[in-house]
Amino acid sequence: MPNAAGWAEKEYKKEYGQFFTSRPVAEFMAKWVLEKQPKTILDPAVGEGIFLWEVIRLFPSMSDTGELSVTAYEIDFNMAERFQNHLKSRSSLDVRSLNLCIEDYLKAKTKNQYDAIICNPPYHKFQRIPDREQLRNLFSERYGITLSGYCNASSYFLVKSIYELAPGGRCAYIMPYEFLNTGYGETVKRYFLEKRVLKYIIKFDSSVRVFEDAITTCCILLLEKPTEDGQLKNCGRMENTVIFSEIHSLEQLNWEDIERNSKAIPGKQLDCHEKWLSYFLKEALVTNRQNLIQLKKIGRVSRGIATGSNQFFVLSKEMICRHHLSKEVCLPCVAKASDVKNLIFNEDVYRRLYEENRKVTIFNGVYAHTGQDKAYIRYGEQNGIHEGYLTSHRSPWYAIENKAPAPIWLAAFSRDRIKVVRNEMMIRNLTAFHGIYIENAAFSKEDIDLLFCWLLTPTAQKLLKENKREYGAGLDKFEPGDLMEADVLDVRRMKPQDRTDVLAYYQKMADTLDLELQQDMICSVDHIMKNYI
Ligand SMILES: C[S@@+](CC[C@H](N)C(=O)[O-])C[C@H]1O[C@@H](n2cnc3c(N)ncnc32)[C@H](O)[C@@H]1O
Repeated sequence: MPNAAGWAEKEYKKEYGQFFTSRPVAEFMAKWVLEKQPKTILDPAVGEGIFLWEVIRLFPSMSDTGELSVTAYEIDFNMAERFQNHLKSRSSLDVRSLNLCIEDYLKAKTKNQYDAIICNPPYHKFQRIPDREQLRNLFSERYGITLSGYCNASSYFLVKSIYELAPGGRCAYIMPYEFLNTGYGETVKRYFLEKRVLKYIIKFDSSVRVFEDAITTCCILLLEKPTEDGQLKNCGRMENTVIFSEIHSLEQLNWEDIERNSKAIPGKQLDCHEKWLSYFLKEALVTNRQNLIQLKKIGRVSRGIATGSNQFFVLSKEMICRHHLSKEVCLPCVAKASDVKNLIFNEDVYRRLYEENRKVTIFNGVYAHTGQDKAYIRYGEQNGIHEGYLTSHRSPWYAIENKAPAPIWLAAFSRDRIKVVRNEMMIRNLTAFHGIYIENAAFSKEDIDLLFCWLLTPTAQKLLKENKREYGAGLDKFEPGDLMEADVLDVRRMKPQDRTDVLAYYQKMADTLDLELQQDMICSVDHIMKNYI
């Protein structure tokens, strides 16, 4: 555990979005912007100056003859001082040709245009952007673009840099890639298309740890502004084509691997309303969208119950007996994803877990009626459970959240396969799972079983993964809001024979814990269902 000074440093770095680019990444990006022999270069979030060091290292002559005028912004005075000290001690860069602005780049007003811009901006989520509304208005006024209120800080940096890029100039950004798929990224994507600036999106696979001290998704954007006569001289390629490339390690950050893993999409075919992450998939996953439907059109996804103290509220058989609790206060529930090994959760599965003394019961104090039930509430108060953040905001503190059982559970976190469970017993789930509720009256119980089978398939899981929000180091996290946006097969459009066949697999799945057998059945289901998309 870090000590107090360690925490303070961590908080400080978080406040300013300070995490640093490694040298190979900085070198790669610097080479892109230097290829056109710029006379002016800008780093809008300079930090310790890794990009400018690379510029100096790659082209010492350009920097020390004063042929290159360098502008850098840094909001944090301490960081700017560090950068300047390094500069004095190590660099051959003529400090007079450096214009270091210790101020907020996003608010800085300048008429300058730069031949080259290189940046690793802060990645603050929208809630952490200071004066967000004011900034949005400023961007509308000055740059003619109204960004969504949900935009990450990096999008503001990017948009301003595109605006300040001189015709024919080049820009390289490293930043999170969620905006390629989410609603809030649409305006940024539209801006790319209107300005015809985007050349490459190099996406790092989620298992690649690009930054030592930050877990985040990450891509490198390489841009080039058309010259004033509208020409693009970009690497001899067709005009206005965007190259989508996914790499799986930092070693693959070289042109040979990037090109090998790439797909070229003409700008005219790109639509800012579509999810651009799908372009990184090797083969087109979906050829027929007609049979797909967004989850939000047939139901909703909601996180599970948060108790505020699982230690107190989640009980095993032994704990229930020890405290002599009545059956009215003990509701069956699933608290841990690891407790659920079966694909289909029914009463038999539950009984086994209960007898194995797993914590599969939740205490709901509002039904307390015996002396022992009430004594358990007092026991909680003696241990300060009622003073926790969630419990102190609940009335009474010992009531559990009122969430109906969901027919399908989907694990909130996963590695590789997403855990999906059919909750046949209709019991409650805690936050380890999100609940998928089907609210469309036209969906029968069979349709729900079929939808569950679909969600198990590798095809469906790839589609879902297009919508995950945060991941890094191989861990996938799903937010209910993102899952609602995901496309699923509209199982009502399946042929009767296919429905019967898949439902037969569903029956077989209920009875097995054999992983291999489960996988075989899922493959067979995938085989039938993927024909529909
Ligand atoms: C992600 S770090 C990148 C630092 C360096 N360029 C690198 O790649 O290693 C972002 C830097 O931008 C600075 N910064 C944050 N907000 C800023 C703003 N609004 N204007 C200028 N600099 C800012 C932070 O203090 C931090 O040093």
